[in-house]
Amino acid sequence: MSNDRKIHRARRLLASARRLAVLTGAGISAESGVATFRQPGGLWEAAPADQIATAEGFTADPPGVWQWYHERRREMAAARPNAAHVALADLERRVTGRGGELTLITQNVDGLHAKAGSRNILHVHGCLADVRCTHCEFRQRVGMEPIEDLPTCPRCQAVLRPDVVWFGEPLPADAWRSAVQACEACDMFLTIGTSAIVYPAAGLIELAIDADAKTVEINVAPTPVSGLVDIALQGPAGEILPKLLQ
Ligand code: OAD
Repeated sequence: MSNDRKIHRARRLLASARRLAVLTGAGISAESGVATFRQPGGLWEAAPADQIATAEGFTADPPGVWQWYHERRREMAAARPNAAHVALADLERRVTGRGGELTLITQNVDGLHAKAGSRNILHVHGCLADVRCTHCEFRQRVGMEPIEDLPTCPRCQAVLRPDVVWFGEPLPADAWRSAVQACEACDMFLTIGTSAIVYPAAGLIELAIDADAKTVEINVAPTPVSGLVDIALQGPAGEILPKLLQ
C-alpha cells in the first residue's frame, strides 16, 4: 500500500479515536535539532552509554558525565518544538474537545512536548530540566539554563545528578503506572520516532497491540515493531503528523 493511502487510513482512524495513547522517542525531536541516540552519528556512537547513562558511570566521573549533560541541556535550551510536537498538542485538544482522552508518553527529556502545548504528558525517562540529589531526597526543577559545572545539594552538599532515568534504574513509578493503564485502555496507539528497543518503554507498544488498539508507527526507518503495527508510516514525523490531522 502506498504511504498516501496509509496516511488516509490512519487519518480516518484518528478522527474517530476516543482514547489515544502516544509513545514518542528521540526521533520526534530530530527536526528540532536534538540529537538521537542510535542512528549513525547518534549520541551513543560518540560516547559509550555505559559511561554516560548509568549510575556506575556517574560515580566514576561526575564532572565528565555532567559535562556531557551540560552540552545536552545547551542543545535543548536552544531547541524549539517542530511541526510534529505542535500537531500532537493540536490532536490532544481535538480529542479532549470531543470528550476523549490523549495520554502522551515520552521517553524524551527535552521538554519540547510541553513547550508545544501538550498537557497530559508522562515523562517515563525523567526530564533534563530537573536535578536530584545522589544522597538525600532533594529534587528541583532548574530549567535548561546553564548551571554550575558540578552542582551540589543545598541540603546535604552531596553532588546533584540529572533527574533522568539511567540504564538499570527503575522508571518513575507513578508515570509508568499511568502509562501502562493508558496503553491497556486505549483504542488507538501511536508510536513515533522511537527505535522501540529500549525496555520497558518499548513494551508499551506490545501492551497496546494486545489491548486490540489500532496501532500506527511513524518513523524514518523500519523498527522491530513495524511489522506488528496496523499501519507503519515511513517518513519524518514533522511531515507525516500534520498530514494526519488535515
Ligand atoms: P533512538 O535514537 O534509539 O531512536 C530514534 C528513532 O527515531 C529511530 O528509530 C529513527 O529512525 C527515528 N527517527 C529519526 N528521525 C526521525 C524523524 N524526523 N521522524 C521520525 N522518526 C525519526 O531513540 P529512542 O528510541 O528515543 O534512554 O531511545 C530510547 C531511549 O534510549 C532513550 O530515551 C534513551 C536512550 O538510551 C535513556 O537515556 C534511559
